[in-house]
Amino acid sequence: MKASAPAKIILFGEHAVVYKRHAVVTAINLRCYAEAKKSNDIKIVSPLGITGLDFEVHPYVSYAIKRFSEIKPINGVEIKIESEIPIASGLGSSAAVTVAVLKALDGEFEAGLSNDDIFELARKVELDVQGIGSGTDPFIATFGGAWLIPDRKPIKIGNIKLLVINTGESSITAEMVRKVAELRERHPEVVEKIFDAIDAIALKSIDALEKGDVKTLSELFFLNQCMLKAIGVSNRKIDKLVEKLTELGISAKITGAGGGGCIIGIGDDKSIERAMKEFNGFLVEAGAEGVRFED
Ligand code: MEV
Repeated sequence: MKASAPAKIILFGEHAVVYKRHAVVTAINLRCYAEAKKSNDIKIVSPLGITGLDFEVHPYVSYAIKRFSEIKPINGVEIKIESEIPIASGLGSSAAVTVAVLKALDGEFEAGLSNDDIFELARKVELDVQGIGSGTDPFIATFGGAWLIPDRKPIKIGNIKLLVINTGESSITAEMVRKVAELRERHPEVVEKIFDAIDAIALKSIDALEKGDVKTLSELFFLNQCMLKAIGVSNRKIDKLVEKLTELGISAKITGAGGGGCIIGIGDDKSIERAMKEFNGFLVEAGAEGVRFED
């Protein structure tokens, strides 16, 4: 049985969402595909290699198999992964592979899991691997669409072009979340206020997103990026890229955990076109479908 789950971008509110502030997130039109076939032992085939149950090479897939077999014991399975989502890039490839594998296992072993069950298992896998996390990525990979988190309120995104540029450097969520946690421990009275500012930015963005108000969204992208820089998840490469994009008329920010990975940008059509050419950017569509079976 084959299943797929979408990538995501966090438009506003990454990191602060770990501390119960608001985030605005949408699934996008890049997907991870997982195929599960009953077998006598466990084999995982992916662009990362061919292994058995291996918590080093394939942590998310291995924990997904482990968590699934706690609900429905299995003898063995062969899992094949193909993905359009760049790995460790802030686009939610880990959550998408986890959710796609759980759905494929559900289909192959007829476990009858609901999307809520799949989300709960994927949430456990996120914590198994990362030890910390808000659950935002597994939520959006499961349910798709665009949402205000943690309220789980669906939001509308008007007619805006969303540009994505990959810095080419890895973004390791657990590492960055831990870095922010340490900063918060040292300066709670400061960092909590930054989270509050991010919360206000996320909430303010909803109306602008709905209206496709590029001017307001550009200001909010700028403000959110400043806050992300303040909590230490930007770096020199990202700062330079954001600055160059500003010169082209694009307002850009980190999406996801930062420290590398992707940035997202917004601007008028001409600026977007120039930025796509100069920085190898691509456009993404918001509101993609959540986890599903594939033929
Ligand atoms: C990662 O995509 C988003 C973070 O906020 C972590 C999380 O919410 O679990 C950095």
